[in-house]
Amino acid sequence: MAQSEADVIIIGAGAAGLMCALTAARRGRRVRVLEHAHRPGRKILMSGGGRCNFTNLHVEADHFLSENPHFCKSALARFTPWDFIAMVEAHGIAYHEKEAGQLFCDVSSKQILQMLLAECAQAGVEIVLSCAVTRLAAGDPGFVLETAQGPMRAARLVLATGGLSIPKMGATGFAYEIAAQFGHRVVPTRAALVPFTLSGKPAEHWLDLPGIAHAVSIATAGKSFRGPLLITHRGFSGPAVLQISSYWQPGESVLIDWMPGQRGAEWLLCAKRRAPQLELEALLIQTDPAGPGMPRRLAQRVGQLLGLPGALGQISDDRLRSAGEQLKRWSLKPSGTEGYRTAEVTLGGISTEDLSSASMESRLCPGLHVIGEAMDVTGHLGGFNFQWAWASGHAAGLAV
Ligand code: FDA
Repeated sequence: MAQSEADVIIIGAGAAGLMCALTAARRGRRVRVLEHAHRPGRKILMSGGGRCNFTNLHVEADHFLSENPHFCKSALARFTPWDFIAMVEAHGIAYHEKEAGQLFCDVSSKQILQMLLAECAQAGVEIVLSCAVTRLAAGDPGFVLETAQGPMRAARLVLATGGLSIPKMGATGFAYEIAAQFGHRVVPTRAALVPFTLSGKPAEHWLDLPGIAHAVSIATAGKSFRGPLLITHRGFSGPAVLQISSYWQPGESVLIDWMPGQRGAEWLLCAKRRAPQLELEALLIQTDPAGPGMPRRLAQRVGQLLGLPGALGQISDDRLRSAGEQLKRWSLKPSGTEGYRTAEVTLGGISTEDLSSASMESRLCPGLHVIGEAMDVTGHLGGFNFQWAWASGHAAGLAV
């Protein structure tokens, strides 16, 4: 193992680290990537249900959360989804758009990792696996590192160790510790894109229906997302729930709209006139362009909780009106989330305030760069987090 000097040492062989490595090495830099796991890119492999949702065609700053919502714009504009797609196409990887601009591999996320590793190999990147960094200090010039594979020096250092989600996959708070060591502020972190857990009454109401899904809209803190909600053994999951979890604050309620884009009260009153003998549960199941078309067991539960037994014709207009409003604004207080164990991403992280948005370089410690999920830039579900990893890695790769 060569323990000589490298121009650039990148810590973390994940999405951002590999993109940064191949970009810098193509420019002729001697690049070494240190990865503490025995394999690179494990999150790429498990992403998108094994098909890697590698980007999104509609990348805009609105799809990212950060204390500074403008920070991500420059890097995203300089490395767009089309730049990544060009690489994917050059490697002959077949892909498709699933929905709302989300691009997935037709076959396997392995292809994305293989592509990045092939590009790294071609550009001469050295990847050192099973190599934990135990100490790191400014070396005047550059940086000195103590690692599981001996001491190393580098003129430039890139922190690409990601966030805290899925510790089983090798996630650590390493980047936060090092950034703090060099004087950077770390925006408090929490699990995001993560299922909600339920306890108490909500648990009694819902947890015996695992596997049932329904298209809803779900809102909190002035944000709402439309998409499937999935009931699990522990609470609620599914794309709409994962999205809203990034905006949810512990102790707050969320509002579920069981029939998004439709009118609750008017629909019920209309149905009463049209079919007064029908019961509410049957109505909730019916395939009707103006109604929710719920799965049977969900309709039964929602009907029970609304507490309106008997034929619609027997129920007063006022009670139907308020049931319709409740269907549109169903308040539910999650007890928490499943946490980093299953979260797709970490919200918060190294503050962008002391980083350059052009080069991702520290203003407090020249030569130190931070990229990817380790920083306080978090994308929505749908390929945005990988696009941030590619774009920030590319920006740093051009600068180091
Ligand atoms: P990433 O986590 O990829 O890489 C960090 C690397 O650093 C890892 O290899 C890690 O082992 C290593 N490391 C950590 N600590 C270290 C240390 N102390 N020393 C050395 N190495 C260290 N996003 C998306 O856009 N589309 C998708 O389909 C999905 N799907 C998805 C599924 C699941 C289950 C998860 C958990 C996440 C996703 N994501 C996603 C999110 C996406 O995976 C994530 O945002 C990016 O991988 C972040 O890239 P980074 O390179 O910043 O971190």
